[in-house]
Amino acid sequence: MASPDEPVEPRASMFTPREIVSELDRYVIGQDKAKRAVAVALRNRWRRRRVAQELRDEIAPKNILMMGPTGVGKTEIARRLAKLAQAPFLKVEATKFTEVGYVGRDVDSMIRDLVELAIREVKGELEQGVRHKAAEAAEERMLAHLLKSRPRGSFEESPAADREARDALRARLRGGELDGEPVEIEVQERGGPAVEVFSASGMEELEFKFQDMFANLPGVGQRKRQRKVKVKEALRVFADQEAGKLIDMESVVGEAKSRVEQSGIVFLDELDKVAVRERGGHGPDVSREGVQRDLLPLVEGTTVTTKHGPVHTDHILFIAAGAFHVTRPSDLIPELQGRFPIRVELGPLGKDEFVRILREPQNALLKQQTALLATEDVALSFTDDAVDAIAEIAADVNRRAENIGARRLHTVLEALLEEVSFTAPEKPGSEVRIDGAEVRRRLAHLVQDVDLARYIL
Ligand SMILES: Nc1ncnc2c1ncn2[C@@H]1O[C@H](COP(=O)(O)OP(=O)(O)OP(=O)(O)O)[C@@H](O)[C@H]1O
Ligand SMILES: [Mg+2]
Repeated sequence: MASPDEPVEPRASMFTPREIVSELDRYVIGQDKAKRAVAVALRNRWRRRRVAQELRDEIAPKNILMMGPTGVGKTEIARRLAKLAQAPFLKVEATKFTEVGYVGRDVDSMIRDLVELAIREVKGELEQGVRHKAAEAAEERMLAHLLKSRPRGSFEESPAADREARDALRARLRGGELDGEPVEIEVQERGGPAVEVFSASGMEELEFKFQDMFANLPGVGQRKRQRKVKVKEALRVFADQEAGKLIDMESVVGEAKSRVEQSGIVFLDELDKVAVRERGGHGPDVSREGVQRDLLPLVEGTTVTTKHGPVHTDHILFIAAGAFHVTRPSDLIPELQGRFPIRVELGPLGKDEFVRILREPQNALLKQQTALLATEDVALSFTDDAVDAIAEIAADVNRRAENIGARRLHTVLEALLEEVSFTAPEKPGSEVRIDGAEVRRRLAHLVQDVDLARYIL
């Protein structure tokens, strides 16, 4: 593990922009501009870490604003990027937050969440590293535990016999023979105290102070309890406990905080929903503007207090997204607009894209449906002609009812496969081959009737 002051180098940050785009291509069809923008942003983190220290601190990330109609891949790009980035990555909806001083979550909580997430990640990585050692220690503990709780006099008290008994028991334990045996072990009660501290906004800081206070009271946070469990379960508990002993939480937290500060990414979805058409109003609008105002310092770079100490947000990358259908970026308060200098527009999807979305992505919808039915031993397949017809219908309904982008494919497919899905368990071993004529036969009546299409497709 890199020490906290050494810059971290997640594997994926080695990807060139072209490689990042081609990774994203495996899941998201089209939208090249958006892919290029996020790829450059990600690569810039890597470049920045290579720059001399004095200048490095000066280089702020260029935040991105993704705009485009609903269902065209904004959130999907973010999700895939998260997996790729191997950096602390948090996706939040701007609408989740309320202005400081109102009841609800304040925007700072996203940074706290990001830190918690990074801690879990770092801890998980380290646990992976000590897993073997921890399992060994757990086995030893279990042996000692089992031998101790055996009735007295049931084994010889000589060291040789003792060792023999131990080895025999070890063999049985490893063979899984004892897995189902009950044992009594001591477990630590996790979680906070039975007192719930209610958090009004701005109180979250207080809340975690309270929880810490309680946790540190003797006999409260670390209550121990005897529990009767099966040997298998007990081994797992022991292994967790031993892993915990082998991991230095302080350096975990240090590393996690440094990852957040140096390579953290926040994806701020639904930003358009906190934009306000006309300013100076009352009610919810005022609060939405408040949220935008609260976001400013975070995006600009500030210090957020967390229970693990202060965290600087200067180098956290923010990627915002929104349909900006009703409101436009210019409806955001000007200061916030300026903090998202890179704008990318995602275009609407048409029939050609739909054909590809149905088929090409790693997790393509048709592959999913086929895999689901395969579990019932039903072989589902689609002819090219069928794929074409599905895409055509989806595009058509989008045009005539409402354009919900690729989400339309889900509804069309569900309607198409309703009967096959329902009856599949009754026909194991069967083959279902869907062609264009079949698609049209099943869906034509829905498409023709716009009202019906509105409800069903
Ligand atoms: N370009 C695309 N390629 C592949 N799949 C896509 C594409 N666009 C959308 N999808 C699929 O459609 C669904 C909705 O997409 P997504 O969640 O990205 O929409 P969005 O742009 O975030 O919309 P909204 O503004 O409503 O949040 C997802 O299941 C996604 O996999
Ligand atoms: Mg979305």
